[in-house]
Parts: sequence; C-alpha cells; structure tokens
Amino acid sequence: MAKIFSGVQPTSIPTLGNYLGAMRNFATLQEGNECIYCIVDEHAITVPQDPKEIQSNIHSLAALYLAMGIDPKRSILFIQSEVPCHAQLGWIMQCTSYMGELERMTQFKDKSKGKQAIPAGLLTYPPLMAADILLYQTDLVPVGADQKQHLELTRDLAERFNNKYGDVFTMPEPYIPPVGARIMSLAEPTKKMSKSDANRKATIFTLDSEKDIIKKIKSATTDDEATVRYDRETKPGISNLLDIFSLCSGTSLDELVAKYQGKGYGEFKTDVAEAVVSMIKPIQERYNNLIESKELDEILDEGADKAYSIAKKTLTKAEAALGIGRHNRH
Ligand code: TYM
Repeated sequence: MAKIFSGVQPTSIPTLGNYLGAMRNFATLQEGNECIYCIVDEHAITVPQDPKEIQSNIHSLAALYLAMGIDPKRSILFIQSEVPCHAQLGWIMQCTSYMGELERMTQFKDKSKGKQAIPAGLLTYPPLMAADILLYQTDLVPVGADQKQHLELTRDLAERFNNKYGDVFTMPEPYIPPVGARIMSLAEPTKKMSKSDANRKATIFTLDSEKDIIKKIKSATTDDEATVRYDRETKPGISNLLDIFSLCSGTSLDELVAKYQGKGYGEFKTDVAEAVVSMIKPIQERYNNLIESKELDEILDEGADKAYSIAKKTLTKAEAALGIGRHNRH
C-alpha cells in the first residue's frame, strides 16, 4: 500500500489537461493505496487573486474532486491553508533550498518574465510544494509532466535534509502517465493547455457547456495534410486531439488512426468532441448535485483534521531533528 499525495491550485475551474494529466489518476490510485488530495490555495496566492473568485474556486474544486471520483471514505480531501503545518514545513524547506536552484525552475522563469515586481512567493513556491509532499511521507505523486522539475527539487531537498539531520522524510517518486501528461493548447498545439491562456478557444474547462466544448474542438488548430495520423513533431494539433480522443474514449491510438483512414478532419473533430462531452457530462451532473450540499463542508472539516494529525507528526520530527522549539513539551 503506497502513500499518494497530490494537489491542484484553485486558480480557476480545472481544465481538461488537469483532468487527463492528473486528476483522473487520483481516483484510480485510490484502489489499494492511501491517498491524500489537497486544494493548494496557498500556492494560488503566489500571484494576485480576487478574494471572492478564489473562495468560489476553492468550493468548486472541492466539489469537482468528489465529482471526479475522490471517495472521502477512502481518501483525505482538504484545503492547504487549513493545515498550518504546510506553511511551517514550507519555511523549513525554504531554508533548505538555495537561491540558484529556485531561480533555475522553469515555472519561476516563465511566470516572472517581464514582471517588474516579482512576488517572493513565486520563487519560494517549490519549497512549499516539497513541504506538501514530504509532510505525508509520500511514496507517489500523480502529476502532469510540467511538475517533473518540482518533484526533482522535492527529492533533492528531502535528501539534503535527511543527509544532514537524519532520516526524517520518505523519498517520493513522480507518477506521470504515459499518455495525457501534457495536453496541449487547442489553438497553439505546441504550447501546454493552460488555465490562464488569454485565448478562450485554447482551453477546455471541465465545467464548459456542451456547446462550448464542441465549438472549441471544431476550431482547434490542425494542419493541411488532411490525414489523421500521430506525429507530435509535424502534426501537433491532430496528435493532441488523438491523445484526448484516446483517453476520453478508452480506444487505443492505433485503433483510432485506423478508423479515420481516408476520412476528413471534420468528421474526426465531431467524434473527438462527442467523446469529450460524454466523459465530462457525468462529472458535471455529479458536480451539480454536490455544489450546494452541506456534505462538502463536513468532508473538508474532517479532511483537515485527519491531514493535520499526520502532518503534525512529520513537522515535529523535522523540528526536533533541527533542534528548534522544545520537544520535551506536552
Ligand atoms: P496545477 O494546479 O497547475 O495543475 C494540477 C495538475 O494538473 C497537471 N496539468 C496538466 N497535465 C497535463 N496536461 C496539461 N496541459 C496540464 N496542465 C496541468 C499538473 O501537472 C498538475 O499535476 N504545483 C502544482 C500544485 C501542487 C502540487 C503539490 C502537486 C502544489 N503542491 C504537491 C503535487 C503535489 C500545480 O501548480 O498544479
């Protein structure tokens, strides 16, 4: 039985990329493992957020986690800011990190590019993420490919701390799916599908209407070869749609390519859209039932309590190893 931990930022409604790259695996990993899933609201505020909007996104993300199959009887679901150990171990991880390695993170470079005033939290984002993972003695972290570098840093920090102060943290491994780890923008398929893309046609959100999903897929950028085949280099748009189609329908890439031989992109796109809609619709139906329910608050309360009792043990161990605070106190 492995310990699983992962998190999603409540910066908007999760995208199809978030779902196919990570969240869908959160549900399947529940089988036979001990899973902890988090709404990482402290990470979200590393860039300015509107207070009303983030509050509403936190609520929606909690309901979506459940709608996407997280079972609160088997897994812990909680909000990061409700368990203070994250910020506390986050500080210790900052003190374990070097400026140079944080400045080399590609996400930091991308997000700080062209900014005059760079929030310090953008730089110290990865040590907080390391704390999230290490607090639960995590074995496996299901994420998309864009988080690989942060996972490598987490391992470096854990190893650095353990070497200096004794064996406190378990060494986590990333769990990156072979297909879906990098769902691309529909408008510019050489770029990652992202929540914050200014082009509204680039990103499918998991609460988009059927009409919008169809519209976005129909207008997806392709090429003028008019042959459905998989080639990430020369046909990034069609290859991305094939990945999405395969994951949403459970049909292999080879089968799909064979099925669309001699058929045009119009028919292909119609069928991709239909596969996405039929996968997302039941999630949206469950979401609509959950979003107004009182049950949601109860699940999050219980999740925060359970997470705290695990996290506190690791935090105390780390503080004792460092020799800070008094550890003979009751
Ligand atoms: P976030 O909120 O940006 O994304 C949540 C998850 O979705 C994956 N993802 C994608 N997968 C495939 N294709 C895409 N286009 C795509 N876009 C996003 C991400 O890789 C991620 O797994 N730093 C994390 C949040 C975090 C975290 C953690 C994750 C904070 N603490 C501890 C794991 C463990 C993030 O910004 O994810």
